[in-house]
Amino acid sequence: MAKSVDEVRAEIPFLRTKVIYLDNAATTPTPQPVLDAMLEYFREYGGNIGRGIHRSTRRATEAFEATREKLARVINAKPEEIAYAKNTTEAINIVAQGIGLKRGDKIITTVFEHHSNLLPWQRLEREHGVKLELVGMSKECLLDPSEFEAAIDKKTRLIATHHVSNAVGSIQPAGEIGKLAREHGVLYLIDAAQSVGHMPVDVQKLGCDFLAAPGHKGLLGPQGTGFLYAKEDRVAGLEPLLVGGGIVEEVEEHRYGLVKPPQVFDAGTPNIPGIIGLGRACEYVMNIGIERIAERERKLTEQMLKISDIERVEIYGPRHLEDRGGLISFNIEGLGHHDVASMLDELAKIAVRSGHHCAQPTMRHLGVEGTVRASVHYYNLEDEIEKFVSMVGQIARELGG
Ligand SMILES: Cc1ncc(COP(=O)(O)O)c(C=O)c1O
Repeated sequence: MAKSVDEVRAEIPFLRTKVIYLDNAATTPTPQPVLDAMLEYFREYGGNIGRGIHRSTRRATEAFEATREKLARVINAKPEEIAYAKNTTEAINIVAQGIGLKRGDKIITTVFEHHSNLLPWQRLEREHGVKLELVGMSKECLLDPSEFEAAIDKKTRLIATHHVSNAVGSIQPAGEIGKLAREHGVLYLIDAAQSVGHMPVDVQKLGCDFLAAPGHKGLLGPQGTGFLYAKEDRVAGLEPLLVGGGIVEEVEEHRYGLVKPPQVFDAGTPNIPGIIGLGRACEYVMNIGIERIAERERKLTEQMLKISDIERVEIYGPRHLEDRGGLISFNIEGLGHHDVASMLDELAKIAVRSGHHCAQPTMRHLGVEGTVRASVHYYNLEDEIEKFVSMVGQIARELGG
């Protein structure tokens, strides 16, 4: 039986603080079974991985490796195509540093990216003479595949876009962009920080070469975890970000030979408990059912959108619900975004994010310095959203204008 909302809530200790947590786009609270999996590691077999033959190291290695298979199932990939990372940002940097882009190569990205899917490309532009072109014109922050088509030229090696915007919630036509990339022989990276775990993500259907995602958001895994999917025929050519212990076949005084991917991305002692917890988290969300999570988030988002009827409230992003992930971004006329967030916290213990959401070019595109963002997950309640809508109304009526 799939877990009900009440069952999931009962298993998230953080919710016992009575917080109304609407900051799931930043990171999500951790369910008890995920905590248990990590505690079990610490208490019962806390060895290192891939080092030695005693039973603790063998058990740790087995549990650590098992997470690849679970992540692969979540996104319809193969376990060998999953490299662990500490977050989405690291996963994107592995690609930026690892695919051997050189002077004159062109990358296409968008003005709606999280900084984590922009700075790694800007660094290549600055340090290696790679050409970076940004597309993105729409007021609703929805990407138009024809903009990519127009930007692709003979020098284009990579397109990098987000799947769902963390700043305004738009769901992008990633599958169409992927098709275009394939037709032109261009690599395609998807930043899936706001989609994996929240909605079905199938790398075969999306047609991407790389997909970067966190463990600590939609998947309800622990902080300090993330992963990179690199398609089988791409992963072999990908240079690891780090080299050192734990990933060598043999080392001589002036040369080394490395193990094969995906273990080649695990130099040094990795976040063993975190990755084990992430495996448990994958089972947890799959047990709820990712379709069910998406459906519930859509319903809760529709309910949050009721604030658009409130005078002085402006909502950013797509007009249509079907173009939106589980978050809304807004401002109240006459009030600063941080002030609104702080009042929601002070008056009703509602946790929302305020600021530029690590997406300053998007904010500039919208002509604002920042927004208030409320983001949901499966476990949020209709009552919580009702409280949120009513508090936004109260603040706008009494203090806005
Ligand atoms: C769209 C997007 N990309 C990248 C990131 C960075 O993720 P992480 O904190 O896992 O590095 C985030 C985080 O909020 C995000 O929303």
